[in-house]
Amino acid sequence: MAVTIKTPEEVEKMRVAGFLAADVLRMIRPHVQPGITTGELDRICHDYIVNVQQAIPAPLNYHGFPKSICTSVNHQVCHGIPGERVLKKGDIVNIDITVIKDGFHGDTSKMFFVGEPSIQARRVTQVSHDCMCKGIEIVRAGVRLGDIGHVIQSHAEQNQCSVVREYCGHGIGRRFHEDPQVLHYGKPGTGMELVSGMTITIEPMINAGRKEVRMLPDNWTVVTRDHSLSAQWEHTILVTETGHEVLTVLPGDDL
Ligand code: MF3
Ligand code: CO
Ligand code: CO
Repeated sequence: MAVTIKTPEEVEKMRVAGFLAADVLRMIRPHVQPGITTGELDRICHDYIVNVQQAIPAPLNYHGFPKSICTSVNHQVCHGIPGERVLKKGDIVNIDITVIKDGFHGDTSKMFFVGEPSIQARRVTQVSHDCMCKGIEIVRAGVRLGDIGHVIQSHAEQNQCSVVREYCGHGIGRRFHEDPQVLHYGKPGTGMELVSGMTITIEPMINAGRKEVRMLPDNWTVVTRDHSLSAQWEHTILVTETGHEVLTVLPGDDL
């Protein structure tokens, strides 16, 4: 599928969808506490998206995904299915929200600490956040996808972490996953040039140990092969002539 360049009217709809996705993460934060199940977090988000935002949770039934959000705990890398798992003190959990509003998608995820995290958990969470920020920072028309991958991979590896290869960022718009694929590793000066009006996600999955992953028998949940901790952050970004606009950050918030 070809890359889509958004018109100003479409960009405005992407801003709305991005805002709503970010607003779900803001809403759910106080609920992420020891004792809650990931299934309860899913239900709260589902009801908020459908009833308050009057939007659609994009993951629900997406290629058969059974829930409305993804919850990935500790050594789970991504696409964790919410369920009976009870969060406990010391867990780290990625909550990934994608909403559809007026035909357009907004996609964002954050890490949450349940109680006090271990030093290692704090570290991989910080490294993955810094990787995402370094990728976002250089986004502007004319930059190449390999430049983005390179800054992310360099930062991860300089900090003794590894980049998951099997999953990547993506174009986003009327469809959840559009071209191009935004790899989180690569070589400077290679790959497609970004063009003003493209909307993409940057969402590095960073492991504290080795990069290899494995799929659980549920056919969705991805985990690290060596059981090391993994962390991920994600934003939806508009490419502009002079730089970029992060569509999934709330006014006054940090990335
Ligand atoms: N939100 C994920 C992403 O960032 C995709 C989840 S697909 C699902 O691209 F089916 F697992 F929900
Ligand atoms: Co995404
Ligand atoms: Co996502």
